[in-house]
Amino acid sequence: MTLSDFSPGMVRAARESLSNVEATFNFVVCDVQAIPFGDRKFDAVIANHMLYHVPDRRTAFSEIRRVLKPGGFLYAAANGRGDKSNISELGRRVNLDLFPDKVTDSNWFSLESGRRELEEWFSDVRLHKYEDTLRITESGPLVAYFKSFNRLSASELRELEKIADREIALKGAIHIRKQPGLLSAGKHALTAR
Ligand SMILES: C[S@@+](CC[C@H](N)C(=O)[O-])C[C@H]1O[C@@H](n2cnc3c(N)ncnc32)[C@H](O)[C@@H]1O
Repeated sequence: MTLSDFSPGMVRAARESLSNVEATFNFVVCDVQAIPFGDRKFDAVIANHMLYHVPDRRTAFSEIRRVLKPGGFLYAAANGRGDKSNISELGRRVNLDLFPDKVTDSNWFSLESGRRELEEWFSDVRLHKYEDTLRITESGPLVAYFKSFNRLSASELRELEKIADREIALKGAIHIRKQPGLLSAGKHALTAR
């Protein structure tokens, strides 16, 4: 099993968290647009919540296809376009547009658009939806999430905390709508590419 990411920090964190697991992992820092392995090496490629970061997805798909064995599968987790839409609404109440690219960019990789894109490269593309919601019962983790964007001042964060505390006191929790899912896509056993 080869575990990879573009970020050396992510690969280091994976290595550390798996240090007690008895299995042999190969850790690699690499860009999915230039996978440093030969053709037809892998039974499966898992690309979880990352394809929307990749500038040239056509190159990424061509690379993933190349390294898959015939009959192998790509599994790509992503979100539907409406995912966490009410967390973005919360951000807008303190004038923060959390995901401006997602809203305006028709090129954003979502479960809906991703399916169509994958169909150009793979066969038997299927969408597996995962019904889920996030129930937030304390404002602290929510404020920490907003803080991680580094785009809000201390007073805006305090304002956000007040809004969240009020809503939690009123309704018991803030329910965030989630639309995660997995796209599976096969490399047909008989295709040459
Ligand atoms: C939201 S995180 C998901 C991390 C992990 N796959 C998971 O599911 O927990 C997105 C990851 O995509 C990685 N990434 C972004 N562009 C990439 C690229 N071109 N090739 C490989 N990884 C990339 C980032 O470094 C980041 O770790």
